[in-house]
Amino acid sequence: MTDLLRPIEIDRPQRIAFGAGLVGEVGRWAAGRGITRSLVVTGASNAARVGLLGLPGEVSVFGEAKPEPDIPNLHRALAMAERVRPELVVGFGGGSAMDLAKLVAVLPGSGQSIHDVVGPERVAGRRCALVQVPTTSGTGSEAGTRALVTDPATQNKLAVQSRHMLADLAVVDPDLTLTVPRDVTGATGVDALAHCAEAFTNRKANPLIDLYALEGIRLVGRFLARAVRDGGDREARAGLALASLYGGFCLGPVNTTAGHAVAYPLGTRHHVAHGLACAVIFPHTLAFNAPAVQERTALILQALGLPAHRSEADILQAAHGFCAGLGLEMRLSRLGVPEDDLPMMAEDAHAIRRLLDNNPRDISREQILAIYRAAL
Ligand SMILES: NC(=O)c1ccc[n+]([C@@H]2O[C@H](COP(=O)([O-])OP(=O)(O)OC[C@H]3O[C@@H](n4cnc5c(N)ncnc54)[C@H](O)[C@@H]3O)[C@@H](O)[C@H]2O)c1
Ligand SMILES: [Fe+2]
Repeated sequence: MTDLLRPIEIDRPQRIAFGAGLVGEVGRWAAGRGITRSLVVTGASNAARVGLLGLPGEVSVFGEAKPEPDIPNLHRALAMAERVRPELVVGFGGGSAMDLAKLVAVLPGSGQSIHDVVGPERVAGRRCALVQVPTTSGTGSEAGTRALVTDPATQNKLAVQSRHMLADLAVVDPDLTLTVPRDVTGATGVDALAHCAEAFTNRKANPLIDLYALEGIRLVGRFLARAVRDGGDREARAGLALASLYGGFCLGPVNTTAGHAVAYPLGTRHHVAHGLACAVIFPHTLAFNAPAVQERTALILQALGLPAHRSEADILQAAHGFCAGLGLEMRLSRLGVPEDDLPMMAEDAHAIRRLLDNNPRDISREQILAIYRAAL
């Protein structure tokens, strides 16, 4: 399915610093640029340690980035940016804070609202610098051009994609993830795995990205269970930070498939965290897609350290066992998803054409509903 003749363009942050203890690189970089006024976009768990960034001059903190941010949350961050008029915006947190930071860097003063910029390349420009510093290993948002915000009116995730939202600098310091709780470690790790696996089995799969995808899966297979067992395992944390970054590389030019489309309604309609939603759905879509991408599915299982099964049922069981073995709750009913909402969720998921059109096997609304029922 990979076509060497298929064109691809790759956008990366201008500079990526990767390594334990590198967080102070943010301040050094900002000082070198003569920056005197910064706005840090972050959430409750990181607000108290913004000092680690070592930013020079006046530093304002928007410390209310919430998990799975929505439009009202974005508007509060934008209001602060309008007041502060920062020369530099820093996203410091998980995907939620980094995604908000991207929009905070491009929307103020542009005359554009969030609704004006949904979709690919509709952002007019950017007037300030942007630095991203992940504190979870999952989304890879630090490396990419997308931001996702939930619209409470429609309960859909709005996806904004723009080269203007690419960071000038991404600092990936795995030590920042040492404090991530066990359940978030497991769930975000499966998000990174899903980015890699869905890019690897994508209709748009490309050899330039396959390398990162397969290596990212291998890193998750080697280190995720270790980090869940012992959050203080610095080597495992570093391996996962790299896997997450590689997943981010996969998202830009190739992106995800049915796994993410089917997972989204769990978050938008029932507030299941993104990583956990991906973990519940990933085994089902991996198995469903297998007939269309046999060899690649076998390579994914192998990279995870699992036997290379052939049948859909065996693949489902193996991938489910991997996720459940991380201690993740894999039943929708236990995650607060009511059975009577499943048809509406299937409707919503089936409408996410930007991802379903990438899926290696066509998937109907009824087949999505069957996945939800099997995961109930
Ligand atoms: N831009 C992209 O390409 C992309 C890709 C995948 C997901 N996303 C989006 O990212 C969001 C999810 O991001 P996430 O999975 O990183 O979760 P998150 O950012 O919501 O963080 C999860 C929880 O962990 C806490 N936390 C973060 N860092 C911590 C640390 N070091 N120690 C202790 N607690 C910490 C947060 O406060 C939060 O409560 C979703 O909105 C999702 O749609 C974006
Ligand atoms: Fe994701």
